[in-house]
Amino acid sequence: MKKSILAATVFMGICALSTASFSAENSGEALFNGKCASCHPKGGNIIKPSETLKGIKNANKITSKIRKGGGGMPIFDAKAVSDADAKLLADYIMKTFKK
Ligand code: HEC
Repeated sequence: MKKSILAATVFMGICALSTASFSAENSGEALFNGKCASCHPKGGNIIKPSETLKGIKNANKITSKIRKGGGGMPIFDAKAVSDADAKLLADYIMKTFKK
């Protein structure tokens, strides 16, 4: 009986670890390169060069733009970019593309 509890605990531990390494792969950089870099290479903007991603200081500005789109920017709903991924993207953009 005790052994099976131990086995279950170890199993859950392994699951927790593998989830952690999965979300690490889902990094802001990988998300950005996959979904955003086509229009925003190096934080620029090939469609509207005046609207770059450089020097944005408010994460909400980024997450709301992801959801609302507009002005040539497509809408990414929660299926395309989860809330957690939107936050990763916002963090990555703010720390990577500074003015
Ligand atoms: C099909 C091209 C395209 C893709 C793909 C795209 N964008 Fe955009 N993005 C634009 C355009 C065009 C604008 C300018 C919109 C405007 O003028 O309102 C913009 C504007 C933005 C802005 C506002 C910039 C500012 O200074 O106000 C943010 C933030 C942004 N995009 C983030 C993203 C993120 C994050 C992704 C990936 C999930 C992404 N974009 C994918 C075309 C794109």
